[in-house]
Amino acid sequence: MKYDTMVIHNPQSEAGHLKDALGAVVLPVYLSTTYAQNGLGNYQRYMYIRGGNPTRNALEELAARLEDARYGFAFSSGMAATSAVFNLFSAGDTILLNNNVYGGTFRYVSNLFQRRGLGYHLVDNFNTLDFAALTPDVKAVFIETPSNPLLQVTDIRRVADAAHKKGITVVVDNTFMTSYFQKPLQLGADIVVYSATKYYSGHSDILAGLALVNDTALAEQLKFLQNTLGNGLSPQDSYMLQRSIKTLPLRLDRHEKNTNTVVAYLQAHPRVAKVFYPTVPDEERRIQAAQSAGNGAVLSLVLSDGCDPARFIAALSLFDLAVSLGSVESLVCHPASMTHESFPADLQKKVGIEPNLIRLSIGIENIDDLIADLEQALVYCTRQAT
Ligand SMILES: Cc1ncc(COP(=O)(O)O)c(C=O)c1O
Repeated sequence: MKYDTMVIHNPQSEAGHLKDALGAVVLPVYLSTTYAQNGLGNYQRYMYIRGGNPTRNALEELAARLEDARYGFAFSSGMAATSAVFNLFSAGDTILLNNNVYGGTFRYVSNLFQRRGLGYHLVDNFNTLDFAALTPDVKAVFIETPSNPLLQVTDIRRVADAAHKKGITVVVDNTFMTSYFQKPLQLGADIVVYSATKYYSGHSDILAGLALVNDTALAEQLKFLQNTLGNGLSPQDSYMLQRSIKTLPLRLDRHEKNTNTVVAYLQAHPRVAKVFYPTVPDEERRIQAAQSAGNGAVLSLVLSDGCDPARFIAALSLFDLAVSLGSVESLVCHPASMTHESFPADLQKKVGIEPNLIRLSIGIENIDDLIADLEQALVYCTRQAT
């Protein structure tokens, strides 16, 4: 079955089974927090909502199938999924992350790791990292590719091959791509995590996270953590998320079509000094084309010196100024003061999160309207004489 059929049809699955019970066309929502036992020590399939819920399990199966993964877990947020993954590691372990990782992930490692005796290190470029030189305390690499907000591309297969030679676990935050464009487990990664709040939800109305694995021992640990930490996704949100996923391929095709036009327009614009998108540097375009079926719909840009970022943002009318990405509506974000404000100023500077860097999440509106909105904002942004 192809991806765009799988998002809708689900025979021989938990969803199929639940629907067949009464011939329902959509997935039922099971709200019950507890399930009656047949007798002492004689449990039925479900026991207590934290450990398992039919609607959530149906979503987890769907997410796993879309990823060609064996196991899927749905969490109450992307950060809950990431936190469960970080809980797989023990005091003394070090985790390497991209230097322009999502700000919330950085906030987590820079504030909470020390308390648990975990170490972290930010890597400038995983593509050139010498894995042979890593010390034995390095137990995991956590990669976002393309990264946020500079859209740097990491060669997942190269990293996985090199990391596995040293027994290092490879985690990929695949939020920007989704399983529609990129399947990191097939490229050798061990764990994939998502903020499903983004493209999987697609309508800025669900907070959710996903984690996918093939390894049974890892799956057992994640299941244990989901039940023990109590961070599983609620039945209602599980229903909502599987509903959103039905249109994921349609939405992503349109998101990306719009983005290609916006990227070409901005690259040719005299008031734009630089565009960051996975297709822009040649070397990264080659890696991206080899490992992904698309490039996504997030891009960043640096305005030319004569242009004031605050005036540009204020002039936009179709792009709401808001954190987040991946929804049907277009958004504009100023990473230095918004998504990446948890980065200290010197780290922002080192990484390249400049004050005039702007991130756009391109929605599915009519492309002519989006370009017209950008054009009038680029006319308006000219700095005022002081
Ligand atoms: C790449 C990435 N990973 C993880 C997260 C965290 O996800 P959530 O907001 O669903 O907790 C985000 C949120 O913006 C993100 O952009």
